[in-house]
Amino acid sequence: MLKFGIIGAGAIPQTGFDGITASGKAEVLAVADINDKRLKAFASRNRISRTYTDAAKLIADKDLDAVYIAVPNTLHVPFAVAALEAGKHVICEKPFAPSLNEATKAAEAAKKSGKLFMVGMNQRFAEDSQKIKALSEKGYFGEIYNASATWRRRCGAPRLGTWFGNTALAGGGCLYDIGVHMLDLSMFLMDNFEAESVSGATYSKFGSRGLGEGSWGKSDPEGLLFDVDDFATALIKLKGGATINLNISWACNQKAREIVNVDLHGTEAGATCYPAEVYRFEKGVGTYSDVGGITVDVRYPHHDRFVNFVKSILGEEKPCVTIAQSLKVQGVLDAIYASSREGHEIRIKAGA
Ligand SMILES: NC(=O)c1ccc[n+]([C@@H]2O[C@H](COP(=O)([O-])OP(=O)(O)OC[C@H]3O[C@@H](n4cnc5c(N)ncnc54)[C@H](O)[C@@H]3O)[C@@H](O)[C@H]2O)c1
Repeated sequence: MLKFGIIGAGAIPQTGFDGITASGKAEVLAVADINDKRLKAFASRNRISRTYTDAAKLIADKDLDAVYIAVPNTLHVPFAVAALEAGKHVICEKPFAPSLNEATKAAEAAKKSGKLFMVGMNQRFAEDSQKIKALSEKGYFGEIYNASATWRRRCGAPRLGTWFGNTALAGGGCLYDIGVHMLDLSMFLMDNFEAESVSGATYSKFGSRGLGEGSWGKSDPEGLLFDVDDFATALIKLKGGATINLNISWACNQKAREIVNVDLHGTEAGATCYPAEVYRFEKGVGTYSDVGGITVDVRYPHHDRFVNFVKSILGEEKPCVTIAQSLKVQGVLDAIYASSREGHEIRIKAGA
């Protein structure tokens, strides 16, 4: 059995614990969190014997083979680098990092250590997105020339004053928090991670006025300044001429409570991801076939990023998310913020 340590005992790590144990080939031996109350509650709920209030001590624990990092965003890379240098495999939460420079430090540490490093992009493992991916790999859509990627909430910002809204701890706002999922999923489904140019704009129109709160997010301390984006939009041009339209919000004036989807537009067929449906012209304009109930073999029938990570360490599967892909996604996120700040399109150098 592989032995895992978890850094962070907040909202998301329960799914990590469940996935690691569901693999049947790994167990969680230790957990760390600076909040002693949360740490003890998580450990006792999951019968984890070792607890640390200092993550450095968990990283130094010689009995651990792997570490799952689930702490505020700007701490991902420092902890990942330390864990890789200590000889652990690392699965890290999204978003990868507050910049490509920072993300590159983890990529280099992974290369040096020879250990597996993966950013856990869970949307790639959903049944629906895997079905669309399988069809895309078979060439079902023809040339996919556009993806329209949306995660727009009407009133779903984190509780104001929590770390999620603060640049020093979160690195960015809705673009980093939920935009990263839709961007990553689009590039994955199109199998094109080579962006050539990005034109984007980000806005902070609600959180900064004390509006738009959802019911999620905790923080120590509370009362932090909300200084991140709560709306983001971008046009991303990829190598070969394909484009991605990205529309993201934590809060905005719209009818729907929430819209989450990637629409793919191909020469032979189109698709929505959630739910997985494909559409194509039958004969003549306006006549469509709507292919619901898709039956297709998916690559990861366990649907779990942690199971994929464990099996990849053991050589039983290939990692679904590669470091190279995660660096490319990070580069596009950086370019969206840069384009918004500078007010013009950002060209991305080939190979960057
Ligand atoms: N994959 C997903 O869909 C998904 C969903 C939710 C959150 N996340 C990501 O997971 C990460 C954690 O999110 P969350 O919702 O669990 O946040 P959270 O605020 O609920 O928990 C964060 C925890 O980190 C702890 N912490 C802060 N600094 C620490 C330090 N120096 N050492 C040890 N512990 C420390 C906090 O005390 C807190 O318990 C974020 O990066 C978030 O973006 C991913």
